[in-house]
Amino acid sequence: MDKVRCGVIGYGNMGTSHSKWINNGIIPGMTLSAVCDINPERIEVAKGNLDKSVEYFDDYRKMIDSGKVDAVIIAVPHYHHPEMAIYALEHGVHAMVEKPAGVYTKQVKEMNAVASKHPELVFGMMFNQRMNPLYIKLKEIMESGKLGNIRRVTWMITSWWRTQKYYDSSSWRATWGGEGGGVLMNQAPHQLDLLQWLTGMPSMIRAYLKYGSHRKIDVEDDVTAYFEYPNGATGCLITCTHDAMGTDRFEILGDNGKIIVEDSSKVTVKMLNKSEHELSETLDFRQMLALIHGQTGEKLYTEETFSIPENWDQQHIDVLKNFTDAILTGKALVAPGAEGIKAVEIADAMYLSSWLGKEIELPIDDDLFLSELEKKVEEERKRG
Ligand SMILES: NC(=O)c1ccc[n+]([C@@H]2O[C@H](COP(=O)([O-])OP(=O)(O)OC[C@H]3O[C@@H](n4cnc5c(N)ncnc54)[C@H](O)[C@@H]3O)[C@@H](O)[C@H]2O)c1
Repeated sequence: MDKVRCGVIGYGNMGTSHSKWINNGIIPGMTLSAVCDINPERIEVAKGNLDKSVEYFDDYRKMIDSGKVDAVIIAVPHYHHPEMAIYALEHGVHAMVEKPAGVYTKQVKEMNAVASKHPELVFGMMFNQRMNPLYIKLKEIMESGKLGNIRRVTWMITSWWRTQKYYDSSSWRATWGGEGGGVLMNQAPHQLDLLQWLTGMPSMIRAYLKYGSHRKIDVEDDVTAYFEYPNGATGCLITCTHDAMGTDRFEILGDNGKIIVEDSSKVTVKMLNKSEHELSETLDFRQMLALIHGQTGEKLYTEETFSIPENWDQQHIDVLKNFTDAILTGKALVAPGAEGIKAVEIADAMYLSSWLGKEIELPIDDDLFLSELEKKVEEERKRG
């Protein structure tokens, strides 16, 4: 194969962008051969935008069975991600799944199990932020070990502002039955993935969720979560969609230093000249104050700052290029599909903690989560 013929499932916000990039030849080695959407109006819009050679389908199975696609990009509401990826992989078609991997871990595990039976096929996740050069640099720092053991991770990401009109724009959004959640399922999966990618999976989560805070929706739009890591480190995630002037500040504190990221674009790396443990063991109170106030002639830490502006489109394009290279040349994926479950598991643990009012150990109980989610869907259905 020298060209990957790609089909996009879902010609909505995201599917339109994926289709445009491929159709415009921005992804070397990939062509757009088909688009599928169940909404005929979206198909008409696509016909107006895309090359004449593109074929259209109203059922993703027909598209996959048509022999017209070597790979699919799945850009439909989250609940459908696993079922569509499973169908593609079981029919010899590579799959790129939009985030989140799914809504509940049980379903995502089924997808991963099918993918593991097909190592000849490429299965990727659209975690575009893993292609942000800023987070790639942070990954290198974390893997170098120079920060030492992690002590605390905090991310306040309240810049996911969404208006009531946004929520009202589509019937599946911000519903338990259609979306399976709110900010944790739609916006924050990017941060949940980056958190675990950079600092590993937490072992315990206690979360406080507010449902329909300042918005007429049933799902959560305000989250405050505390978590603990296997090494005893602690973490905190605060996110919401109702802050028009939102904050984006991410900090990782280690034994030897600290990383601070502001607005996902400005990074400060502070490295202690001696580890905090050594300083703690050797300095008395007066010596500590003298060091802090620069009275010893010694510096407490050295500081490096750099800025990398966010380029949202380019991140997605780079994931698609990586997916194409993986198919054509066997290049390793930056965001393998099987890793998508981690962000889903963290989100699901936060829901469970809120619903049951207690700390949740990870890995979570998949069946318990699903039964609690089904209760939410049923309550919503009864309210009408
Ligand atoms: N990576 C990112 O930055 C990013 C950004 C936006 C959305 N997303 C993800 O993309 C997915 C879609 O989000 P969106 O904002 O594009 O939603 P959307 O509602 O704008 O588009 C979804 C499209 O899927 C179609 N669809 C629904 N069910 C279908 C089915 N069974 N078969 C074929 N088509 C179907 C709808 O008709 C609609 O056109 C979500 O999972 C979302 O999380 C990712």
